[in-house]
Amino acid sequence: MNNDEVKGKKTKTKSKSAVEVVEKSAKKPTRTKKTSQITVVNKKKILYVASESAPFIATGGLAEVIGSLPKALAIDPAYDVRVVLPLYSGIKAEWRRKFAFLGNIYVPLGWRNQYCGIFSYEYEGVTFYFIDNEYYFKRNGCYGYYDDGERFAFFSRSALEIMPFIGFYPDVLHCHDWQAALSAIYLKTLYKDKNEYQNIRALFTIHNIEYQGKYSLDILGDLFGLPEETKGLVEYDGCINLMKGAIECSERFSTVSPTYAQEIKSERFAHGLQEIIRRNDFKLTGILNGIDVVSYDSQTDKALVANYSVNDLSNKVICKAEMQKMLQLPVRADVPVISMITRLVSHKGLELVKSVIESILAEDVQFVLLGTGDTAYEEFFKDLAKRYEGKTSVNIAFNGALSRQIYAGSDIFLMPSISEPCGLSQMICSRYATVPVVRETGGLYDSIKPFGAGGNGFTFASTNPYDMLYVIHEALDTYKNKEVWTNLMKKVATTDFSWLKSAEEYKKLYETTTAY
Ligand code: GLC
Repeated sequence: MNNDEVKGKKTKTKSKSAVEVVEKSAKKPTRTKKTSQITVVNKKKILYVASESAPFIATGGLAEVIGSLPKALAIDPAYDVRVVLPLYSGIKAEWRRKFAFLGNIYVPLGWRNQYCGIFSYEYEGVTFYFIDNEYYFKRNGCYGYYDDGERFAFFSRSALEIMPFIGFYPDVLHCHDWQAALSAIYLKTLYKDKNEYQNIRALFTIHNIEYQGKYSLDILGDLFGLPEETKGLVEYDGCINLMKGAIECSERFSTVSPTYAQEIKSERFAHGLQEIIRRNDFKLTGILNGIDVVSYDSQTDKALVANYSVNDLSNKVICKAEMQKMLQLPVRADVPVISMITRLVSHKGLELVKSVIESILAEDVQFVLLGTGDTAYEEFFKDLAKRYEGKTSVNIAFNGALSRQIYAGSDIFLMPSISEPCGLSQMICSRYATVPVVRETGGLYDSIKPFGAGGNGFTFASTNPYDMLYVIHEALDTYKNKEVWTNLMKKVATTDFSWLKSAEEYKKLYETTTAY
């Protein structure tokens, strides 16, 4: 894409389409306090800053949330929700073709002035802006580069710099995870005296506290462009900690389930940030994520060979048979299929699985795994698949269509996370009437209640693998009683995991954020 080197300040491309689009957006009635003649549409303006979003680019749960929460909010005519994303080369051409080039500006970053192309696309009621800079984003994958700090500093700064260009100053700048943390930090430092930015309030959402954006203090000015006097805001434990900085700078911060909001106050879950969380507790809210219930719907999902509804689950058996065939497992309707779709990292509870998987496989079951991650786990499961051929299918991959086929084709979905901010798979599998078995932590605790107490799954609390094994046996025993199991499947499939309730909670949170 256009990455011409032009020195100087903001350079708006004078191409016809760019000018037209800018004029169009400038004409939109915006909320201004001074004008009384214009009919003011008093929309709440929210700008999301995030490093990934479905359906454009996804590596994990964050993308699911950014792809579905803004959409749920935008249904309300009182909300104007927009999203800023990096234009990674990983975003497929079929999407890129649809994006409109609005123009370009130059974004200051330390001593640099970096090209920033701005593309936009309206998708399902939400305007997405894509920040183009090939030097930063024309790479394989989204993360994992030595200069990620600089890449996302550029992105975070761009989210603020594009505001005059797109004619949109939000009421709430909603920043997600460390990659967007600098947007909140810049707002309260470099932009604090700029008139147009005065009424913007910041909300920072933690999707996973494990990744905090830690950098050496040496790069504060040179790379991040932050003056020495801001050091106290971002410094923690002898280094720059962007998550800490965003918590300090935001009017409010939140995380993705009420239980995780409690958990991150303790050393066990906070990855070192417990003191900061406790000190800022008065600003913290936990809101359980929803999922896109239109996309994840066993009645309409095109990835399935057969669709089914909660009133008639009979086609689920066809999905199961097709999955077994595809994964080279014996096609048997009567054998319970236990599946896991997960990143292969230790906090997903894989040590528990490793400890007792052989006891699980001693039963008449099939075990299906889909995921990528740490090599040691990948090797362990590949080896397991060899040793238990015909009982186990291990798929080291990240594959959207296959994941849906596994959600639908399984009977039991295992998610024994040691920590889980929210977790989406337990909700997604429920949409396919597959019964979750979870460890009671974070959002798993908030979304799945034990079968024994009339709930929608099986749960265990400790990190003892034998407690997990015990509830797996409970699930397998229950599976044998067809009537009880069918009723449980129905209960699971009718649990409301839509955004409806949570979107209302976010609206309340936006109110309290702007009340400052
Ligand atoms: C992160 C968390 C996960 C959560 C997701 C979306 O990936 O690990 O628990 O569901 O973000 O908020």
